[in-house]
Amino acid sequence: MEFGERLKRRRTINDFKQREVPRELLLDAIDVARWAPNHRLTEPWHFYLLGEQTVDAVIDLIVELKTAGKGEATRAAVMKRLDGVPAWFAVTCKRSDDPVREREDYAACCCAIQNMMLYLWQAGIGVKWTTGAVVRDERLFGILKLRPSDEFLVGLFYCGYPEVIPEQRRRPVVEIVTSLS
Ligand SMILES: Cc1cc2nc3c(=O)[nH]c(=O)nc-3n(C[C@H](O)[C@H](O)[C@H](O)COP(=O)(O)O)c2cc1C
Repeated sequence: MEFGERLKRRRTINDFKQREVPRELLLDAIDVARWAPNHRLTEPWHFYLLGEQTVDAVIDLIVELKTAGKGEATRAAVMKRLDGVPAWFAVTCKRSDDPVREREDYAACCCAIQNMMLYLWQAGIGVKWTTGAVVRDERLFGILKLRPSDEFLVGLFYCGYPEVIPEQRRRPVVEIVTSLS
């Protein structure tokens, strides 16, 4: 398939097959991710591969945040969906006292994440990037053993072999391009 077509066909995945994601594949994807552009070669990213105990604690926290006061059926449904996610990782960005540097570093992390997602997609694995309330909850920093003074979360990621690949749409190119003289 043509390169551009592959890039277009990557999708955010919500529903995964119950099939293990090889750890080696995630490490290969991180190897590719770190070749993303990054100003001043700060390499501001850090990748956390979540093991079973950590995932359990993260799921408990997400369920608590998403279902407070909503009853047992909602709680069970959210828990079931999250339990079905085959692999989890998180990406953080180094904090900086210089806001320009921190913004550039965040941009570099996003480039690295896209490298990673595209590599995984090529290998048949779909990813969902999440930035829900959990990534700003200080309890998540405790679970992941992060120091909020040193790094912040760019996202929490679910991944696995897709069960369903959703349709997506984009606005036409003419609507997003302005040609200047
Ligand atoms: C920075 C960022 C944060 C995102 N956070 C969420 C999220 O919290 N929940 C979610 O369902 N999707 C999230 N997404 C995924 C987008 O919803 C998704 O990329 C969008 O619907 C387009 O779908 P596509 O990735 O298949 O093209 C996030 C994407 C990005 C880039």
